[in-house]
Amino acid sequence: MSEFLQGWKRTDYCTNFTLDDVGREVTLMGWVQTRRDFGALVFVDLRDRSGIMQVVFDESVLEGDFNRVNALRSEYVIAVRGKIVRRDPETVNEKLPTGLIELKARELKVLSKAQTPPFEIEDDTAVREELRLKYRYLDLRRPTMQRNIMMRSRISAAARDYLVKNGFLDIETPMLTKSTPEGARDYLVPSRIHPGSFYALPQSPQTLKQILMISGFDRYFQIVKCFRDEDLRADRQPEFTQIDIEMSFVDVDDVLTVEDGLIAHIFKQVLDVDIPLPLRRLPYREAMDRFGSDKPDTRFGLELVNVSDIVANTGFQVFSSVVKNGGSVRAINAKGCVDKFARREIDSLVDFVKIYGAKGMAWISMKEEGMQSPITKFFTDEELDALLKRVGAETGDIIFFVGDKDKIVYVSLGALRLKLAKKLGLSDESKWDLLWVVDFPQFEYDEEEKRYVAMHHPFTCPKDEDVDKLESDPGSVYAKAYDMVLNGNEIGGGSIRIHSAELQERMLKAIGHTKEEAWENFGFLMEALKYGAPPHGGLAFGLDRLAMLLLGCQSIRDVIAFPKVQNASCLMTNAPSPVSPKQLRELGIRIVEG
Ligand code: AMO
Ligand code: AMP
Repeated sequence: MSEFLQGWKRTDYCTNFTLDDVGREVTLMGWVQTRRDFGALVFVDLRDRSGIMQVVFDESVLEGDFNRVNALRSEYVIAVRGKIVRRDPETVNEKLPTGLIELKARELKVLSKAQTPPFEIEDDTAVREELRLKYRYLDLRRPTMQRNIMMRSRISAAARDYLVKNGFLDIETPMLTKSTPEGARDYLVPSRIHPGSFYALPQSPQTLKQILMISGFDRYFQIVKCFRDEDLRADRQPEFTQIDIEMSFVDVDDVLTVEDGLIAHIFKQVLDVDIPLPLRRLPYREAMDRFGSDKPDTRFGLELVNVSDIVANTGFQVFSSVVKNGGSVRAINAKGCVDKFARREIDSLVDFVKIYGAKGMAWISMKEEGMQSPITKFFTDEELDALLKRVGAETGDIIFFVGDKDKIVYVSLGALRLKLAKKLGLSDESKWDLLWVVDFPQFEYDEEEKRYVAMHHPFTCPKDEDVDKLESDPGSVYAKAYDMVLNGNEIGGGSIRIHSAELQERMLKAIGHTKEEAWENFGFLMEALKYGAPPHGGLAFGLDRLAMLLLGCQSIRDVIAFPKVQNASCLMTNAPSPVSPKQLRELGIRIVEG
């Protein structure tokens, strides 16, 4: 039988006691980590969210209570009263914060028994993630998970603290709402009262936070759940949390300055790390040209080099025709790496870039005994000299080339760059590489749909000087949009918004909405824009991603209490699950097998 507290009150967490507390009568409560039985003495490691306190039951307790102490098993929940004492020198444990003291028990209550858990509640148990997630409550008891969830709480507390101090108001927006386009599918919620109509769970509070600016609240934030039905990856979840921010009467520089302060505050509060401000601002074009990525990891070199002009008229057809067709040929020089890549490994790197759409990858190995390469034979001596000079080739280097449409060159060499850095151990893991990527294009061309789509979202304001080109030359329009990047991961993104209904309508038209569609989907926003909208802008940080990176976790699931797995289900609750015919009838929904 479980016992009740009957007036017992916990004095404090296990690890809040020190040598100064020796002699104090205290009550501790928590879980049994281990029980070690030495006959006349029984040691129990008592665990709570702070850590461990060793509890010792000696003969004076055992005489009266032997059976109950003896019955204690891992994960029993107990309360112990007793006195904090200094440990005998031979039992001192320097590794534990409470390693100099222990609790000499006088009285025990068993508050709950526990079945034998399916895995040990320790950090270094090799246990499959499926099992961890099915028994998430046990998994969350492990010290690392406790630390992760508590640190995540500190990150949101630090964000809240900074934003409130800077005049931002915490305003909630509805979860049952209308679709907001952030590039994913919506999660829909059927309406019982309006059969055949659906709410959408927000992909972000984008339109509503803009409307709050129109309402005059001036500075808004919300730590808010967003829902996106998209393919999951290690850094994506179908529901995730944003630190969502919007402000009025601002331009790009004002927003970036406030967010600089926010991220620095979070780093200071959570990790005690000083981030030098202002953060670097890298134009999108430069990020792509140098790193092949709009979220560059700049902790190491291996930068891309454009050699299109040199190879344009050479005898290597692949390269010359790529350049003639408007593409480019770019290279990465892996300095001093010639011996690190055997022929077999080079071939596997060629296969690797093909995943990203490259048709091949040429290379030049600068061996002591001379160059090795499948392509040098196509070049004249002058062309080869120019090529080697451009990429800074020296004996010992190996140079990789991809030629294709820019998009494919960037994505494949961008990925190769990361892969090489990982293999070569080039990235300084102790560094925090924080920067802004700014000046994004307004649109990108969607080959499948044969139309332009918004690169950020359709409420993003084009650069003032590009507004006139919205219809005539959309591909050359740049946006007042920016992303914050941490160690090669996008942790936040935002923009200055369109604050005129007329420009908003033009923007929606440019991405293929008819006037009718624009008004049907976004009429509420465009109507609002007609009633005095201040210039405004903002951004959203991905809290889960930020937490994952700050805590050095490999998976976003490790910083979310109850995450979903790859197929978007929850292994603990088994959501999603079928519902009763009655519920479906009420909603006017019939399931079509299919
Ligand atoms: P965006 O779509 O760039 O912008 O999202 C902002 C940040 O949210 C995080 N994020 C995710 N995290 C986990 N799982 C996901 N599926 C996921 N999708 C996005 C990323 C990203 O940088 N309304 C705009 C913001 C604005 O313009 O103010 C928006 O949602 O870290
Ligand atoms: P090929 O003449 O097709 O045998 O190609 C000669 C070399 O060029 C091989 O090493 C190919 O991997 C490489 N190659 C082929 N297409 C490309 C490309 N688009 N970009 C870079 N290298 C390529």
